[in-house]
Amino acid sequence: MTEINDALVEHLLCIADGSVDETAMRLHAIDADLAARTVLEEIVARAALFPGPSTPFVVQFDLGVPGERLGYRVTVSPEGGDVLPGWEQDPPWLTVRQDLAELLRAVYGPPGRYDASREIIVRQAPTNDMDAAWQVNLHAATLASYQLVKACSPHHADLAMLAVRFGSDKWGSHWYTPHYEQHFAPLRHERVRVLELGVGGYGSPEPWGGGSLQMWRHYFPRGLVFGLDIYDKSTLDRPRMRTVLGDQSDGEFLTSLAERIGPLDIVIDDASHLSSDVITSFVTLFPHVRPGGLYVIEDLQTSYWPGWNGNRASLDDPATSVGMLKSLIDGLHHQDIVRVEPHEPSLTERTVTGIHFYHNLVFVEKAVNYHQPGALWLPRHEHPYPTKPGGLHDRGQHASLPRPAEEGPDQPDLRGSAACVLNPVTWIGA
Ligand SMILES: C[S@@+](CC[C@H](N)C(=O)[O-])C[C@H]1O[C@@H](n2cnc3c(N)ncnc32)[C@H](O)[C@@H]1O
Repeated sequence: MTEINDALVEHLLCIADGSVDETAMRLHAIDADLAARTVLEEIVARAALFPGPSTPFVVQFDLGVPGERLGYRVTVSPEGGDVLPGWEQDPPWLTVRQDLAELLRAVYGPPGRYDASREIIVRQAPTNDMDAAWQVNLHAATLASYQLVKACSPHHADLAMLAVRFGSDKWGSHWYTPHYEQHFAPLRHERVRVLELGVGGYGSPEPWGGGSLQMWRHYFPRGLVFGLDIYDKSTLDRPRMRTVLGDQSDGEFLTSLAERIGPLDIVIDDASHLSSDVITSFVTLFPHVRPGGLYVIEDLQTSYWPGWNGNRASLDDPATSVGMLKSLIDGLHHQDIVRVEPHEPSLTERTVTGIHFYHNLVFVEKAVNYHQPGALWLPRHEHPYPTKPGGLHDRGQHASLPRPAEEGPDQPDLRGSAACVLNPVTWIGA
């Protein structure tokens, strides 16, 4: 396996973004052999998601670069596979010919059609009277070509399938994957940076854990995935998937990590689930989430468990994870809160634009919380409409309502005020 070269992978992701001609031109400036092997290893890792030959099977890749052709023997097998430079001595059972620039875009570029230069060649039988070995090899060639073509397309592996395949409890013990898909789908083909707190496997000496990191690596085919754990998980490192040793309760460490690998598009907290750690991580890492990104916290049930720094009696306790999250709801409406004193909006008030709760799971959206307050002419200290006799908010009497110009002078003019602080009026149907 080629040594993992994070910088090269990032560079390939970047050059795959351009047009075919731009990609080819930029590819010309780097080591084509290194680029080809990196791309083929990514293909081998993705191919394992799809049904393939039951025993190791060698596929000849014949890749075009200006002025020459590069040969690679790619083995696909249920246990993984490998990539070796060179050409088969005997006629190969399966050959894939393609321009390297196009293959690079198929793997690392935005979704599109990337088969203009591709040829798939299966060894021809000399007669119709094939022996069993021929039939086995031709069947394997059919399966391997399917795997490889799927691996080079923007494959739509279902997240629950990936969770089951890699042993993440995001499907099974929990039922989180549909919620993740709902929120992550728009980012799926972006060059996202994902950080998950909690790799899995705890202190097990085996290279155990990493199920969700593998799941994200395949769900985001152009993403860079980082996993933080309090135990060393470096044996799990793969291209586009890095583990980091550290403690989520250490704010200084988290800041330096985020400065190194951020800005982040997605942070997922699935580590200690102690409320104090959850809050420290959120307060530290949320500022490093890119606008348009998401911060996810799993297993919120521990917010109610005293042994986990939770509080079973005071459910709004801001020292608990759910209590802290509830306070973000008021921040979301900060412009509409009637205040006595001027108020400088906090970072979360300015940047939390959505909070989506599910059972034990929350997604916090980050962007600019720019929405204007409710209509300024609406009085904040009294309800403007008669509530009787037609019942609450009787719309039949609107004709007699005062218009903005008729409002009394006692209404403060809040327009333009930094502390544009208004009342959360329950204004049904307005
Ligand atoms: C529930 S597992 C993560 C499972 C994984 N995210 C998945 O879905 O496959 C929790 C992990 O968090 C790690 N952990 C516990 N406390 C931590 C802390 N303070 N900082 C970082 N990691 C921690 C544990 O070692 C464990 O491996």
